[in-house]
Amino acid sequence: MHYFRSDLKQKKLVNINVPHKKIKMGLNESTLNPFEKLGDKFIEKLRSVPLNRYFNDITKKLKMKLADYTGVPPECLAFGNGADEMLYYIFTAVRENNNSFAVSLAPSYFDYKSYTGAVGMGIKFLSLQSDFDFSADEFLKLSDSNDCTLSILCNPNNPTGNLLDDDKITKVIENSNRLVLIDETYFEFSGKTFADKVEKYPNLVIVRSFSKAFSVAGLRFGYIISRPENIRELEKVMTIFHLNLMTQAFVVSILENKEIFLEHNRKIIESRETLYNELASIPGISVHNTATNFLVFSIGKRTEELFNFISENNIAIRPVWHHPVLRNYVRVTIGSKEDNAVFLERVKEFMGR
Ligand SMILES: Cc1ncc(COP(=O)(O)O)c(C=O)c1O
Repeated sequence: MHYFRSDLKQKKLVNINVPHKKIKMGLNESTLNPFEKLGDKFIEKLRSVPLNRYFNDITKKLKMKLADYTGVPPECLAFGNGADEMLYYIFTAVRENNNSFAVSLAPSYFDYKSYTGAVGMGIKFLSLQSDFDFSADEFLKLSDSNDCTLSILCNPNNPTGNLLDDDKITKVIENSNRLVLIDETYFEFSGKTFADKVEKYPNLVIVRSFSKAFSVAGLRFGYIISRPENIRELEKVMTIFHLNLMTQAFVVSILENKEIFLEHNRKIIESRETLYNELASIPGISVHNTATNFLVFSIGKRTEELFNFISENNIAIRPVWHHPVLRNYVRVTIGSKEDNAVFLERVKEFMGR
């Protein structure tokens, strides 16, 4: 006797396995706590929303503010509980049948696999090259099947941190019959976007997040940018009141005070350069340039030993060595100046042993 979809039997339950540490540099979160900056303004905004009602004008206001921030018309936007939920809805909307699959690069964001699996789709991966670049022709070849209903490109890519080549992304969009999803979760740290191309390309859909650049990972807010006709199709698979009014009010408040967050991001970008240069100057460390709020580095065979040492010193970073392209690599989130300094101290201590 079984009660659920039979393919779920083989699917593993996803656990986020990040140990609790004093210094949190493992999940690409922001170090800025929005309440410290905006406390009263948030509370006032929340008070203005009657929670005994399903609807409120705050939804329209949010759409207008987000349109203003993104530079696309409000009809080109849909929002929900984090980029993750947006991915889930897109996968739900493109799944045709049990043979449907998506294509993506590897290594890339882990949950493309989790959520395609959750909706009963497959996923195929093209491995990145050792310089984290990819072949658009190979990628198109992999997606060249009636069963491939979605191509996913993460730009900049997590966990490698690099931007993909513009011309290659364009080639993929122009030569795909089905939807091409660009995940721009780290857009504010790269400054690169395809949002201005949604009018030109009917098969382009972009996903973004407020978890990183707007410091509200725990609030859960993400959004989709695409042509109005795509937004309408995607909204058909969303539950009607999926985004609660408190989150909407919070996000309006963030957008009304966005300079605070954007200024913080500029500081993170500065710190990222400092941390990169400091790591690069330590003999034996290989570190990669990044367009995000994290970077990957390796010390070769002893990387796992270094990882354990950092963990023992109450700092969480992330092992990303499971894919051959990142063998012996770890990922560290750019933290506050103080956290970065402690982290560097520990790395230097280990390297000097
Ligand atoms: C590439 C990428 N996409 C999506 C997400 C999910 O973001 P959210 O917190 O908005 O669900 C993450 C989170 O780390 C990510 O790195």
